[in-house]
Amino acid sequence: MKSFEIQSGFGLDNLKLVDRADPVPGHGEVLVRMRAASLNFRDYLTVIGQYNPRYKLPLVPGSDGAGEVLSVGPGVEEWKSGDRVMSCFALDWLSGIPGLKQVRNSSLGGPLDGTLTELRVFPARSLVAIPEALSYEEAATLPCAGVTAWSALATETQVLPGQVVVVLGTGGVSIFALQFAKMMGAVVIVTSSSGEKLAKAQALGADHVINYRDKPAWSKEVRRITAMEGADHIIEVGGAGTLEESLKAVKFFGHISLIGILAGSAKELNLLPILMQNVRMQGVLVGSRNGLEQSARAIEAHKIKPVIDRTFPFSETRAAIQYLADGKHFGKVSISIP
Ligand SMILES: NC(=O)c1ccc[n+]([C@@H]2O[C@H](COP(=O)([O-])OP(=O)(O)OC[C@H]3O[C@@H](n4cnc5c(N)ncnc54)[C@H](OP(=O)(O)O)[C@@H]3O)[C@@H](O)[C@H]2O)c1
Repeated sequence: MKSFEIQSGFGLDNLKLVDRADPVPGHGEVLVRMRAASLNFRDYLTVIGQYNPRYKLPLVPGSDGAGEVLSVGPGVEEWKSGDRVMSCFALDWLSGIPGLKQVRNSSLGGPLDGTLTELRVFPARSLVAIPEALSYEEAATLPCAGVTAWSALATETQVLPGQVVVVLGTGGVSIFALQFAKMMGAVVIVTSSSGEKLAKAQALGADHVINYRDKPAWSKEVRRITAMEGADHIIEVGGAGTLEESLKAVKFFGHISLIGILAGSAKELNLLPILMQNVRMQGVLVGSRNGLEQSARAIEAHKIKPVIDRTFPFSETRAAIQYLADGKHFGKVSISIP
């Protein structure tokens, strides 16, 4: 089989297409022909050595994927050849609050080999059926970006109809958050650096949009839109560079899901608003297999289509990663595996 491998050192140039031995499913395992993967910011950071420089190489990147069951090992009853499946992000995190090692040691695309490969063996319990209406490319966007947005809005807190959700930016996680928040009946405010992307967000149902390049103090806009009350929930993917504005934009007893650090991980910050506003700050690290099943059911029931900006062929994975890193995309960037 062919796989993309970060070889002797990190860096996009060290990501090589190599031949590897075809894997064979053991007891309780399933052999999947990967048909699609989607790219996450984490995958880019992993390839360039900034996610975890201690990951052992060679490593196949790719945090999520979808494919077709080719064969099953002894003891597997829940899957059969031809079934369409998605992989979980952390193979051993099935539900509830996991142990640290359960997540850290079983995550795809580091430390475990990921999904940018033609074939992969998975434990049978770490796969979820693809909703009928989704293509492999669409399904591959769920296990990391989709589940992260789901965990933020449905697991770690529950969004109620009429509540105000602010979604920062228009990347993979944020566009899923927009779609799920609308499904839950929320009023959604989307921020972006691009007027064109904001128009696309409106077409997807965003009630209000703010260009954070034109209005760096965007929290004032959120206050204005909410009659000075502030937002109930904030999907915070910027981190240190955006948290100060998020703290000004969130309402008394509001909720901030800290998901990403696109605008930096460290900064001097005034913590007073967190306690004076009784803000609930929740770190979110993807989610469990149960979260993947729940989000897939929601997507099926509400006929939600994951938003794919562009699909690259497997052979052009390096160009796809560069495209993601350049940040011109809206929603997800996908890889189609032959
Ligand atoms: N904790 C977790 O479990 C988890 C899971 C998935 C992702 N993440 C993290 O969450 C972040 C987003 O991931 P992703 O895969 O969705 O990335 P992505 O698709 O690459 O999203 C990039 C988008 O983020 C927006 N952005 C960048 N800087 C911003 C800023 N200062 N303010 C507001 N928006 C900004 C930009 O939107 P515009 O172009 O519209 O301005 C950009 O296009 C990353 O840091 C990633 O590592 C965490």
